[in-house]
Amino acid sequence: MARLLILGAGYVGAALGARALDAGDEVVLADNWYATQRTELDDLAARGADVVTLDIRDGDAVDGLLRATAPDRVHLLAAQASRPLSVSDPDYTEETNVTGVRRVVEAVAGRGGPPLVFASSLHVYGPGLSGEVAADRPYGAQGDLAHLSKVYGELCLALYARRHGLAVALLRLGIVYGPGPVTHQRAESQTVVDKFAGLAEAGRPPPLDDGGTATIGVVHLDDCARILHELVPAPGVVAHDVAAQTITVADVAALAQSREPAGGAAYTVRSPFTYTRNLAEYLAR
Ligand SMILES: NC(=O)c1ccc[n+]([C@@H]2O[C@H](COP(=O)([O-])OP(=O)(O)OC[C@H]3O[C@@H](n4cnc5c(N)ncnc54)[C@H](O)[C@@H]3O)[C@@H](O)[C@H]2O)c1
Repeated sequence: MARLLILGAGYVGAALGARALDAGDEVVLADNWYATQRTELDDLAARGADVVTLDIRDGDAVDGLLRATAPDRVHLLAAQASRPLSVSDPDYTEETNVTGVRRVVEAVAGRGGPPLVFASSLHVYGPGLSGEVAADRPYGAQGDLAHLSKVYGELCLALYARRHGLAVALLRLGIVYGPGPVTHQRAESQTVVDKFAGLAEAGRPPPLDDGGTATIGVVHLDDCARILHELVPAPGVVAHDVAAQTITVADVAALAQSREPAGGAAYTVRSPFTYTRNLAEYLAR
């Protein structure tokens, strides 16, 4: 049994919390309720999770929660993760994803450094990828602050890890899909797979920017939560990609509409984890 502090009780954090409770872990879920309603965590709270209000921009509050919970691991999933909201609210995006990340790692270092897992994004590699993408690929150009700040977050965590001898894992998530304890309904927070699935169910055509030629990496929420839960970072910094498969956006639309996918993903992802869920099976519902 472990004691987990999950910063960010949103779509991924709540699924991780549920999985950890299933495994008999002690779970603290913390959020400032920017993108998630507190009431969406009621079921997990009833199952024994400690659900607390915390803003990661408040370093003293993060330190106080670390002191109070003495976690075996910290998962940093709190973020302003939406691309549209990063355009409409750039200051909040930076304050949370830049200053907030730095304050969390300062507090972690000050409390003797419980191992820290950070949810980053495959977007750190930038656009125009080809071949096999692995975690040693350099950072690429960024198109929005929600993803530019992931590059800062990774480098900042690595800096503090070196300075204080911390154990940090950077997990670069592809687009996560599938139902979970917290599922956002507002358009700004929906990602392509479940958005297209919903449109197809409603008989509406998915919108395809640039003909849907862009390639994305995808991972089912169950696989993502399991990978986050099982990973125990060793001292130092490690980066891994988390994507079960890559696919064009046009093929996500094709699968959602029960059409034959054309193939032609521009790149593949090398990931050290095992995956049990497959997008075609999910969209064949
Ligand atoms: N879901 C995906 O497809 C995906 C893909 C790649 C990377 N990620 C990353 O994984 C992490 C989790 O993503 P998610 O889909 O669960 O997003 P989410 O928006 O559902 O969860 C993030 C949570 O952080 C909270 N939050 C925002 N600002 C905060 C602050 N200042 N202090 C405390 N909490 C704050 C929000 O209220 C929200 O509940 C994020 O870092 C995201 O960038 C997600």
